[in-house]
Amino acid sequence: MEMIQIFLTSLLLLPLALGTLGPAEEFFDVLGTGLKEWRLVFRGTAYINLSMYTAYKDGSNVPAIVHEACRQTDWSKPCDTHYRNADALAHWSNIMEVLLGVVERGQIVKTAIFKGDNTDYMSWFSESHYINSSWADLSTETHQFFGIAGHDAVKRHFFINHNYNGCPHDAGWLAVVDTITNVPCDWEKDEAFPIIKYAAGEKYENWNTGNFRNADALVVFVKYSSGAAIVG
Ligand SMILES: *[C@@H]1O[C@H](CO)[C@@H](O)[C@H](O)[C@H]1NC(C)=O
Ligand SMILES: *[C@@H]1O[C@H](CO)[C@@H](O)[C@H](O)[C@H]1NC(C)=O
Repeated sequence: MEMIQIFLTSLLLLPLALGTLGPAEEFFDVLGTGLKEWRLVFRGTAYINLSMYTAYKDGSNVPAIVHEACRQTDWSKPCDTHYRNADALAHWSNIMEVLLGVVERGQIVKTAIFKGDNTDYMSWFSESHYINSSWADLSTETHQFFGIAGHDAVKRHFFINHNYNGCPHDAGWLAVVDTITNVPCDWEKDEAFPIIKYAAGEKYENWNTGNFRNADALVVFVKYSSGAAIVG
């Protein structure tokens, strides 16, 4: 009996001992499974006039100390910077799944889940690693762009696009417009950036006429393999 308990206890401690996990306060129960299994690795915040792509890629425009409100999952707390979990992004291994969340008015309004194996921190956001999402047609429709870099020349990042066909006919699911300077199309014009535009329904839309909303934040979590999770 005691032997079994010791054995089970050591099994629970094993992932921690191996150092595969980060600090417990970085893990959250994002999908309501009762397990704090998702580690927050990034939060990009809308309209702060700092590139979200740069923040994710190298963190050079992220403050050294980011307010606690930007590092947790009560999305109603005010946060006015990006947050980059440098340790988690630098040690991108044993990742089973990656979760992308679109946050608006205090809630995660859209999610997309990706396979983590054979990825690095820039490549998981792709058609080939896609598992499922709140957009029912994302697995059946074609994608012209599906990536974090996206259409870099016009600073459309974290971009999932269906088609271009001249600005009035452009259509897609998600875009982070990372500039307000010389943007080619009316649908991406705004007063400040980053602009996080997402199709609010369950399918792709025309960027001009469709049911799009502007989100408050884009968040990324990872779930590690080997059942590593903080129970709580
Ligand atoms: C962002 O830039 C716009 C345009 O220059 C400005 O009106 C706005 O106040 C800026 N917002 C922040 C948070 O700096
Ligand atoms: C995606 O799949 C996971 C695991 O099967 C499930 O828990 C989640 O609800 C699904 N998400 C969506 C948005 O369908």
